[in-house]
Amino acid sequence: AAPDVRPPRGLDYPAVAPNTADTVTLPPGYDQNIVIRWGDPVVPGAPAFDFDGQTPEAQAGQFGYNNDFCGLVALPGGGGRFVMFSNHEYTIEPLMFRGYDPANPADAQIRIGMAAHGLSVVVVERDRRTGRMTAVLDERYNRRYTASSEFVLDGPAAGSALLKTSADPTGTKVLGTLNNCSGGVTPWGTFLSGEENINQYFANADPADARLKRYGFAAGASERKWERLEPRFDLAKEPNEANRFGWVVEVDPLDPEAPPVKHTALGRFKHEGATIGLTRDGRAVAYMGDDERFDYVYKYVSDEPMMHGESRRAREHNRTLLTEGTLYVARFTGDSPAAEIDGTRKLPADGAFDGSGEWIKLARGATSFVDGMSAEEVYVFTRQAADTVGATKMDRPEDVEPHPRTGSVYLALTNNSDRGKAGQAGADEANPRNGNKHGHVIELVEQGRDAAATTFGWSILLVCGDAADPSTYFGGYDKSQVSPITSPDNLAFDTYGNLWISTDSAGALKINDGLYGVSLEGPTRGRTTLFAGVPKGAECCGPVVTDDFVLISVQHPGDLDGASPEAPASAWPDGPGSQPRPSVVGIRRVGPGGRPSRIGQ
Ligand code: FEO
Ligand code: CA
Ligand code: CA
Ligand code: CA
Repeated sequence: AAPDVRPPRGLDYPAVAPNTADTVTLPPGYDQNIVIRWGDPVVPGAPAFDFDGQTPEAQAGQFGYNNDFCGLVALPGGGGRFVMFSNHEYTIEPLMFRGYDPANPADAQIRIGMAAHGLSVVVVERDRRTGRMTAVLDERYNRRYTASSEFVLDGPAAGSALLKTSADPTGTKVLGTLNNCSGGVTPWGTFLSGEENINQYFANADPADARLKRYGFAAGASERKWERLEPRFDLAKEPNEANRFGWVVEVDPLDPEAPPVKHTALGRFKHEGATIGLTRDGRAVAYMGDDERFDYVYKYVSDEPMMHGESRRAREHNRTLLTEGTLYVARFTGDSPAAEIDGTRKLPADGAFDGSGEWIKLARGATSFVDGMSAEEVYVFTRQAADTVGATKMDRPEDVEPHPRTGSVYLALTNNSDRGKAGQAGADEANPRNGNKHGHVIELVEQGRDAAATTFGWSILLVCGDAADPSTYFGGYDKSQVSPITSPDNLAFDTYGNLWISTDSAGALKINDGLYGVSLEGPTRGRTTLFAGVPKGAECCGPVVTDDFVLISVQHPGDLDGASPEAPASAWPDGPGSQPRPSVVGIRRVGPGGRPSRIGQ
């Protein structure tokens, strides 16, 4: 492609130079503001943030730590008001508290950590004149869910003996949601969020228990010592509590009284998130990644079609879509001879990393399709079910998201430095690079472009890294015209059909993480253009890209080796002398006379 090929609509902005600045860097003509940050009040009446005066009660009404996914649903009546959903993946106590002692945290520090986990629902408003997005202290919709809020378990494994504990003999009610990473907005107007690295909250796993081991639960004390205050986090005392985390959570933003739900029908693993497509006959399909080295890509297809409209009947019906359906796991088969996949990412003779695949049925309702496992076991120990049926071991599946117009599904495979190591799986056509430090992106096309299909085709769109690295591939586009990109994590689409990718671990290229626009069509297919860089030590998450504004979630700013409140690695966003605070950033384009202008035009 010639350098003078015009960028597609929506991606017409000068590439931001990769950098290590302690700020959000944007193309010229774009402006930014903090929409909300760690400690800002969410619930009306919550106190203002005070780094040295934190309490569990204050934190439970304030925005939590390490916001990852971000989604918006427009409020009825319009007026530029939205309900925003953010999740709070995890806490970093050594950055949150002065003089934190990891071996013996104070009770209040433990309780603040619990309250800084979970979810935030916050009304945000876009100023018509300036285009600025700001949070509103709304009495009706704003709320927090923490590690102590009650969630309902629903679906085929709810009430199973595997989910019962001494505090909950029904196996249907769980306190808290933990390690929520990515998520999705459903076409019926709810938010989904994936519980990911849930093993780190639990102590004293039996090392001989293969079911616990497969999910990474370990012996000894937990990192945050929550088991000291709540024995349910001690697996020697309450072994089934572990099984009550690792689910996809659904929240109805417009119905604050409706209990938040954990959906057992979508399986239990280290859920990155879940995003929804629709089959030709209108049923809901959830696409999901299990973010661990050599783990799997899944989908779920509902039995019933979605009901359109805003009626009470439609809302109640759609709430059941993720309760009854079929759970599948993906197997990828390359179309080139295995000998041509040498682990260096040299293209095979047919010129593409591509092939076919199938969705292997695991369970539907009370029916298991996995030898030796009951349906309840398939839902609770989904990783073992997928192991049994021979699913394809992938390079850490993060977001898996269908394109709203074409239905093609994009898979962010963030990295896997263990690929090809002794005793580990080596390169295959779908994961073609050994020691895959920078990750890749797969495009998957369902048979007949129907999300209900049980077979698919696929090809690799990007093999990430610096273009000078011969193992990279940018959809065949001119490598001199792309921004370096590593460790793709979250995905979004704009209204023009472009893909947007945010990254986690750009330190692998000695640059800060960021948000990239990626062209999917025409002569620029595969062109990556850096749109926003995030501050030092941060990961870029949760992109929302509209015609008028972009939101990014800046997670763990200042999280660099050796950093502490006494020696912070970042002073973002509050400036010199302050502690770093995870935040949602609103980005707008400023046109003539300071008027808002369209993004990427
Ligand atoms: Fe929390 Fe998969 O990143
Ligand atoms: Ca091939
Ligand atoms: Ca992630
Ligand atoms: Ca990640």
